[in-house]
Amino acid sequence: MTCNILVGGGWGDEGKGKCITYLCYKDKPDIIARAGVGPNAGHSVEFNGEKYGLRLIPSGFFHRDARLLIGAGVLVDPEVFLYELDYLNKYNVAERTFADFRCSIIEKKHKERDKASDYLSKKIGSTGTGCGPGNADRVGRVAKMAKDIEAMQGHTTDVPLEVNQALDEDEYVFIEGSQGFGLSLYYGTYPFVTSKDTTASTAAADVGVGPTRVDEVIVVFKSYITRVGEGPFKTEMTQEEAEKMGIEEYGTVTGRRRRVGLFDMDLAKESCMINGATQIALTCVDRLYPQCERVTDYSRLAPETKKFINEIEGETGVPVTIISTGPDLKDTIDLRDELL
Ligand code: GTP
Ligand code: IMP
Ligand code: MG
Repeated sequence: MTCNILVGGGWGDEGKGKCITYLCYKDKPDIIARAGVGPNAGHSVEFNGEKYGLRLIPSGFFHRDARLLIGAGVLVDPEVFLYELDYLNKYNVAERTFADFRCSIIEKKHKERDKASDYLSKKIGSTGTGCGPGNADRVGRVAKMAKDIEAMQGHTTDVPLEVNQALDEDEYVFIEGSQGFGLSLYYGTYPFVTSKDTTASTAAADVGVGPTRVDEVIVVFKSYITRVGEGPFKTEMTQEEAEKMGIEEYGTVTGRRRRVGLFDMDLAKESCMINGATQIALTCVDRLYPQCERVTDYSRLAPETKKFINEIEGETGVPVTIISTGPDLKDTIDLRDELL
């Protein structure tokens, strides 16, 4: 039995989509279960020149034998859900994707409220995808659930039951989080956060797995930090500096320009502590150190890059096991065997 969780260590957009694609391709989980807030996420998945931007369907879809589940804690926008089933038609996702019957539904009114609220859309800089108002309605106990919605008929299941039975049968369950530690409703830079906790414990609860069943917690950090929306950002640099370093970025969902800054060791340490990290995946090292682009062998990394990685391991006390050197799933250094 294996149950691993992957979550973001920063303010989202750490490259979780890429890491999940790689890990699912390599490890072939039986179930890939999506945790996290909802369709405010924008995960990028890239392999063999194909590129996908996903908001709800698990990023591990590329592994065709897995059942793709969406946990009860995740908000479902049926429009996005059905659009993505169609979008990924080639990968037979319609036959193997199911949301928990208790998932809260994002309705048109939630998206309208999100966009019409100056507080949410301007002060916080929300994604406008209706997640905040959707979670507010869940707390207010007036939200609709997936089982109540015509559009979700045939696409619902009991996710905790499936996941726990799979674990009982010695299968492998991979839980993918969304957003990141700095956006947690409790531990992030409140009030400039998303509408829910985003740590590994909540990711497990989202899909109905108890803490005693979890094996590995992989926290993803990007080699620099980005943030979309408002809120404090200790290591932020100017856009000119980011351009000079070649690390400017734009959002997958909103197309908004991401704020950019240097790696924040204090944030990384806190994030590892509260997530209970057992492994770190470090992405975009090629953008910080262009000589590392598409390198797949640790020994071929430049000394400067190795020093950066050692420093992260030393400060956090957590081994860096996955090093991502490009957006494609193949651009990966996998050091997990060295842990054994
Ligand atoms: P959220 O759920 O929105 O937080 O998204 P995410 O963590 O999946 O990240 P997102 O896809 O929004 O942004 C990461 C960006 O970096 C995407 O454009 C990826 O294709 C890209 N990317 C990921 N890993 C690497 C890498 O190692 N090198 C390079 N050059 N790009 C990468
Ligand atoms: P909301 O989650 O749409 O309410 O947005 C609240 C804050 O979280 C805003 O600053 C958003 O930019 C940020 N946010 C939410 N989801 C993501 C994500 O997946 N990646 C990056 N930022 C996000
Ligand atoms: Mg994103």
